Formats: sequence, C-alpha cells, structure tokens
Amino acid sequence: GVTPKIAPSMLSSDFANLASEAQRMLHFGADWLHMDIMDGHFVPNLTIGAPVIESLRKHTKGYLDCHLMVTNPLDYVEPLAKAGASGFTFHVETSKDNWEELIQRIKSHGMTPGVALKPGTPIEEVYPLVEAGNPVEMVLVMTVEPGFGGQKFMPEMMDKVRILRKKYPSLDIEVDGGLGPSTIDVAASAGANCIVAGSSVFGAPEPVQVISLLRNSVEK
Ligand code: DX5
Ligand code: ZN
Repeated sequence: GVTPKIAPSMLSSDFANLASEAQRMLHFGADWLHMDIMDGHFVPNLTIGAPVIESLRKHTKGYLDCHLMVTNPLDYVEPLAKAGASGFTFHVETSKDNWEELIQRIKSHGMTPGVALKPGTPIEEVYPLVEAGNPVEMVLVMTVEPGFGGQKFMPEMMDKVRILRKKYPSLDIEVDGGLGPSTIDVAASAGANCIVAGSSVFGAPEPVQVISLLRNSVEK
C-alpha cells in the first residue's frame, strides 16, 4: 500500500544531541528517521556511518531510513545491519554491475532495499531493479544534487515521479531535497509518498506543524 511516510532528515538536526532530536521527531509524528550516510567520495561531504547508527539505535526503536551516498555500498551492508539500520537505499550510479548481489545481501541482513538516483540519471535505469525477481522496495528520486541539506527543490524531477507512479502503482516512491510546505503539493500530486525533509522541518518554529502539513498533502 502507498501510505505516507514522513522522514525528517537528521542531517539538519543537532548532531551533538542526535538521540533527543530523533525522539523529538518521532514524538512530532515522523514515521521514519532519514539518515544520510556519505563517504566524502561519491559526494563531496562526510557525515555519519555505522558507529553513529549503532549509538542512535540504543535510544530509539524508530525506522532508520538510511540513504547511502557512498561509492561502495556493498561494504556497508553488514556494518549497518549490525548497527540496527532499517532501510538501506543505495545509488544506482554506484551499483551498475552488482545490484542483484547487493539487494540479496541487504535482504538477507534483514533490511529493506531501496535504490536512489541522482538528478542527472535517467529513470529507466531503475526499472530492472524494480522488476527483478528479488526487487528493491523503494525508489528514491533525488530532487537536489546529493551531498548537502538546504538546497532548492528541482521541480523538473517530478516527471520521473509521475512515470514511476504510473508504472508501479503500489511502489514506495521517496523524494529527497528541498521538500517543505511550498514544494510538497507538487511532489505529492506527482505520486511521491515517502517525503524526506531536513531544513524545512528542523528550521521551523513548530516542526510538528510541518510534519502534519506534509502528511496531509500526501493523504489528500
Ligand atoms: C542531501 C540529502 C538530504 C538532505 C535533505 O544529500 O540526501 O536528505 O538532508 O535536506 P533538505 O530537506 O534541507 O533539502
Ligand atoms: Zn537523503
């Protein structure tokens, strides 16, 4: 079923208080916690890895929606599974030759596989992964260049979302980058149901209101 999943991006949280920031978001109605994992190579930024996921897991039972912006996602499967990750979304650009093995390993380690694509990557590249015998369960359509929070939403990416939604009516489709009160309606009406939002949630005076606004847009 295509139910809304509102996923605050913890990249915009106060990392020095990650546990309480996570608990606060779940209390405000977040469904998932979006965890941006970077390696300083696939993207020009470095954030968190398995040790931080492991620490956070001790403080929450929430769904940790991990977005792997790394060149070698296969190397992260076992450490992240042991750390307590829930979803494991890798970039199709990094895994052209080994995505079947990667999906299999993600599932055998008890995590939910997803595939992400950068703005410049054609949507056709994810079709084989959605249609495989052992498929991904979510497609993450990047609506900014991956690497940093606080960038401007790219509305032209909604063509990808519309095409995916038409082709796969029950697929989880996530959008990430520049989502907030002013961009959610275009994303939700295109067919996105998993909504990542960093700066718009953490920068709001009342994050709870932004989370419920995002949910209402997906539900209507
Ligand atoms: C960017 C990350 C995003 C980012 C979104 O590389 O994948 O998850 O935190 O932040 P906002 O919502 O501020 O664009
Ligand atoms: Zn992300």
